[in-house]
Amino acid sequence: MPTTEQEVTTSLDLAAIRAQFPSFAETVNGHPAAYLDGPGGTQVPQRVIDAISDYLKHANANTCGAYLTSRRTNETIAAARVAMADFFGCDSDEVAFGFNMTSLTYAMSRAIGRELKPGDEVVVTLLDHDANFSPWMALEERGVTVRRVAFRPADCTLDMEDLASKINNRTRLVAVGYASNAVGTINPVKKIVHMAHAVGALAYVDAVHYAPHGPIDVRDLDCDFLVCSSYKFFGPHMGVLYGKREHLTRLQPYKLRANTNESPARWEWGTLNHECIAGITACVDYIAEVGRGLKPSVNSRRAAILAAYEEFVRYERALCERLLHGLRGLAGVKVYGITDPARMAERCPTIALRAPGHTPLELATKLGDRGFFTWDGNYYALNLTEQLDVEKDGGFLRIGLFHYDTVEEVDRLLAALREILAA
Ligand SMILES: Cc1ncc(COP(=O)(O)O)c(C=O)c1O
Repeated sequence: MPTTEQEVTTSLDLAAIRAQFPSFAETVNGHPAAYLDGPGGTQVPQRVIDAISDYLKHANANTCGAYLTSRRTNETIAAARVAMADFFGCDSDEVAFGFNMTSLTYAMSRAIGRELKPGDEVVVTLLDHDANFSPWMALEERGVTVRRVAFRPADCTLDMEDLASKINNRTRLVAVGYASNAVGTINPVKKIVHMAHAVGALAYVDAVHYAPHGPIDVRDLDCDFLVCSSYKFFGPHMGVLYGKREHLTRLQPYKLRANTNESPARWEWGTLNHECIAGITACVDYIAEVGRGLKPSVNSRRAAILAAYEEFVRYERALCERLLHGLRGLAGVKVYGITDPARMAERCPTIALRAPGHTPLELATKLGDRGFFTWDGNYYALNLTEQLDVEKDGGFLRIGLFHYDTVEEVDRLLAALREILAA
């Protein structure tokens, strides 16, 4: 069905937002850099860079010492827990930091696995990133049966009937992604959590891809765990875990004897990356500041974060629709996932495509030479690329849009793709 080109407006002050990101000054062969690689990691505003270097200048120490910089380090970690609690909508003792989502998920799968026995079942999906798949598959070593939920190839949405058929009274955990990092699909997570709880199973949500695109409310979702990575929402390279207090205190982590048994620190091994933890507070504050600019009447950081996301969602949907409209005009380009303009609420602005005559790597290279940073391959959404039979020849080209991207970048990208495909 032909659609008209989407006119895109936003109440975000994009000039002021973009001025905060030093990396946006980058150029490639005389072209301005366009960061469409955010699903692999977003750019950071100056305040994140400052927070990291300020920590190293003024607070650099290990924790729990009887002196100034060590106390400052404890305060830095405590402040970041409060910031992430505002981000998730939970209490600060329900927040744990780790190297990344993958290592946090392995830690949690091992701890949960301690309580499982042969015959117990865990449900995973084929739409998920491998980091929410392999750590649960590892439980097969303990005799646990892992059930895999299919997705519908036509629009890359989860097959909810298949999901329902795989949950039963032996199910102990359902692991699901909030959104697909390859094709952008947003899953009905609240409903899935409810389905898990109906049989007494835990619900583990991978919100890594969703976190920069939509507001998270763990109380509303009622999930037992939710993980994300701050480098995907304008912060440093770290992972963050939310866990319901009752689980974080009851479950037994594999940990050093010397490590505290207090929750949530019992889930954090060895010396943490304190400077990056300082950066996490700064990236949450960045989002909140955008929200305050949009809605000066907000009276808490949580409300400011939600105000920012309200506009991120609206603006990103419009940008996504414009890109999809433009791609429809490029002969032979196939977009995987939801493309119907009426269904933009069911997806993030993360587009996976293939084009005739070019491998995804060739496209990414040619775009990269023109200053467009995109990804090619499977981005660890390995089950998806295998099922769609694109793994053998390069996966997809992935274009990720974020609130800091502009209509002009989308239009320039379309023009560059048109030129590359015509050559
Ligand atoms: C949806 C999703 N889940 C999990 C991960 C793994 O995150 P991390 O690199 O923090 O381990 C990624 C990384 O790209 C992702 O996109």
